Amino acid sequence: MAKKQIAVIGAGLMGHGIAQIFCAAGHKVCIHDPADDVLQVAPGKVREIFELLGQDPSGVDNLSLHDSLDTVVAEVELVIEAAPENLELKQGIFEKLTETTGSGTILASNTSGIPISQIAARSSQPERIVGTHFWNPPHLVPLVEVIQGERTDTAIVEETIQLLTAVGKTAVHAKKDIPGFIGNRMQHALKREAIALVENGVCDAETVDLVVKEGFGMRFGVMGPLENSDLVGLNLTLAIHETLLTHLDISDGPQKLLQDKVSAGELGMSVGQGFRSWTPDEAEAQRNKMRDHLVQYARQRIKDRSEH
Ligand SMILES: NC(=O)c1ccc[n+]([C@@H]2O[C@H](COP(=O)([O-])OP(=O)(O)OC[C@H]3O[C@@H](n4cnc5c(N)ncnc54)[C@H](O)[C@@H]3O)[C@@H](O)[C@H]2O)c1
Repeated sequence: MAKKQIAVIGAGLMGHGIAQIFCAAGHKVCIHDPADDVLQVAPGKVREIFELLGQDPSGVDNLSLHDSLDTVVAEVELVIEAAPENLELKQGIFEKLTETTGSGTILASNTSGIPISQIAARSSQPERIVGTHFWNPPHLVPLVEVIQGERTDTAIVEETIQLLTAVGKTAVHAKKDIPGFIGNRMQHALKREAIALVENGVCDAETVDLVVKEGFGMRFGVMGPLENSDLVGLNLTLAIHETLLTHLDISDGPQKLLQDKVSAGELGMSVGQGFRSWTPDEAEAQRNKMRDHLVQYARQRIKDRSEH
């Protein structure tokens, strides 16, 4: 497939990682950020990812820096916006992108949770605006949820999925533009129950984490929850749901335990206290453990792809 030109708007935490994915696949990537300090360090950060993943760092030469949106977007196949999570700012960016790009350019937002239809509200061509929800860090986590807004053309969704698949991502189609898309809905349903278990004195936070990591969480890298239901039998899943579901937490807002901790400044590893206590060394060790785990998996995926 001919390599297409890609643009990334916003060179922060997510933007530089997204840019690296496309550079590594041989695409020319324009990156724009209005903050000059952020823009100037982007190539160095992209190069670090190449080194982390054992890829040829000359791929960073595919990256070009743009301090103005005007010079970015003349003839690009796909624009991915990774600017701050602010509706008005994103609406303005997409209004402008609609005017400055050709009608064949796909315009994608990496919003964490703002409905795509709202982001597209000021654009005259909402049919080419789509959500691409990368997970952090985007160069290590394979999944991208491709979100179809109320007016997004289905062909645009399909083309986006093809482009992402071609650069090694696992792209899935969220057919409805609902809060939390797919992954965060499941993740936060689990967190709500986890917090309730601690709040109700059933167990402490450490036990919650152990039960996931040493128990059912061990399956998840290999088998999703519905595959697992098929494995154990849907009759068993039904029987469990008949007795269990009425007992699960159904809080319709953030729980008191979470609110109290945030009010008390117990924000987590950054301050040494969240649901659990962290010394700086423990926090560092846990971050490294997570990074090493993700890097090992990402390197294996790159190797597997290069062999096929
Ligand atoms: N951080 C995460 O874990 C994560 C995960 C998934 C999705 N997201 C989403 O990705 C987007 C970016 O998040 P981030 O964590 O990279 O934020 P970030 O603050 O690290 O980066 C945002 C960048 O956008 C730049 N910026 C500000 N105004 C801009 C404009 N008008 N045009 C272009 N760039 C502009 C900033 O200078 C900054 O460098 C947000 O919508 C966020 O919700 C974040």
